[in-house]
Amino acid sequence: MPMAIAFSFAQSTLFSKSPLFFHINGFRSFAFSTSAVVSWDKLRRQKWRQPVASVLELGGVKMAKDDVVRDDPTNNVPDTIFSKIGMQLHRRDRHPIGILKNAIYNYFDTTYPDKFDKFDDLCPVVSVKANFDDVLVPEDHVSRSYNDTYYVDPQTVLRCHTSAHQAELLRKGHTHFLVTGDVYRRDSIDSTHYPVFHQMEGVRVFTPDDWEPSDVDGTSYAAEDLKKCLEGLARHLFGAVEMRWIDTYFPFTNPSFELEIYFQEKWLEVLGCGVTEQEILKRSGKTNNVAWAFGLGLERLAMVLFDIPDIRLFWSTDERFTSQFSEGQLGVKFKPFSKFPPCYKDMSFWINDSFTENNLCEVVRGIAGDLAEEVQLIDNFTNKKGMTSHCYRIVYRSMERSLTDEEINDLQWKVREQVQHKLNVVLR
Ligand code: DAH
Repeated sequence: MPMAIAFSFAQSTLFSKSPLFFHINGFRSFAFSTSAVVSWDKLRRQKWRQPVASVLELGGVKMAKDDVVRDDPTNNVPDTIFSKIGMQLHRRDRHPIGILKNAIYNYFDTTYPDKFDKFDDLCPVVSVKANFDDVLVPEDHVSRSYNDTYYVDPQTVLRCHTSAHQAELLRKGHTHFLVTGDVYRRDSIDSTHYPVFHQMEGVRVFTPDDWEPSDVDGTSYAAEDLKKCLEGLARHLFGAVEMRWIDTYFPFTNPSFELEIYFQEKWLEVLGCGVTEQEILKRSGKTNNVAWAFGLGLERLAMVLFDIPDIRLFWSTDERFTSQFSEGQLGVKFKPFSKFPPCYKDMSFWINDSFTENNLCEVVRGIAGDLAEEVQLIDNFTNKKGMTSHCYRIVYRSMERSLTDEEINDLQWKVREQVQHKLNVVLR
């Protein structure tokens, strides 16, 4: 999606720009509007989900499919997403995501023996309060929209970041912790974006005893400690790399930074972090403390460390993928078992006011699943009558086999049909 390119590689920057930034630059529609909700209402009334059965138990919480996926305008969780809940790639020791998690644990265990509490089984269904309010995400922030986040009901979401657990763990008295988990975001389709991915959150709380012996105030002390800790982590994962700190914005930290490393001739954003907003600490009963926090996207790091070219591969159960990784082996380079030919299909339609690219991508994924490699806007114009036409190119490709013409034509036919009916657009 050309409009999103400026924004993110492998999904980690949703929070790093102020809402104002979104308004001015118009990179993304500020879509927490009734029109987005109404269009979902239309979608919901038509039963188009494929059946998925199961009851899950996660972090002690029992969940049936009907608890998460409902025919209700306030619910936008499709079956395809429910089927990913509970997969917990981050808890598999021979999966790249699990190997990377363990390597980060390893760094914290050696640098701070017995200090950090680790959580990797917290339930991904969380309250809107935990996901947004408790970490001070503004009421009108784009990330709260139905277009960007999966809502189970108006008060409940699939967490869109592991920061959703910060406040609760602080309230429970934890002062050093790491939270790893699957996170969910409605998004575009390309080789670095997938609606489910994994993050790790880290938090460390200081007391006046920590910073008072030094000459600096608590905030500077925490910021310095944070940078030292994360530079060490980056070296642990990437070796002796060049690094730089970029000032940025997050609702939950002040000051806020991004760490970038120079890797394979490019500056790569590795993580977001900062000194926790006092308000968050205050609300969790820690008025005399200062803390730092960071959040990193595991897929984006694993893609670089293991040379994994497409984010869909993480979900592959093909032995030619899974057999290439072993426990404790960080950075073994993935050897593509073959590259199957892509197939391109274009479709043009007149959009309406409630059209969003994320809704289009959800329809495409609902039909083609992981065979959809990319959905790209290739033409966009408005005629004299004020009608806007979009032309999208859908790239179909399997990671595992060659697709037949018949199969792709069938998929494309279904996509055209559903796009027309569910998104209420007029095909050209
Ligand atoms: N939650 C942020 C995101 O998903 C990442 C992040 C940034 C987490 C800064 C933090 C932080 O704890 O301090 O984009």
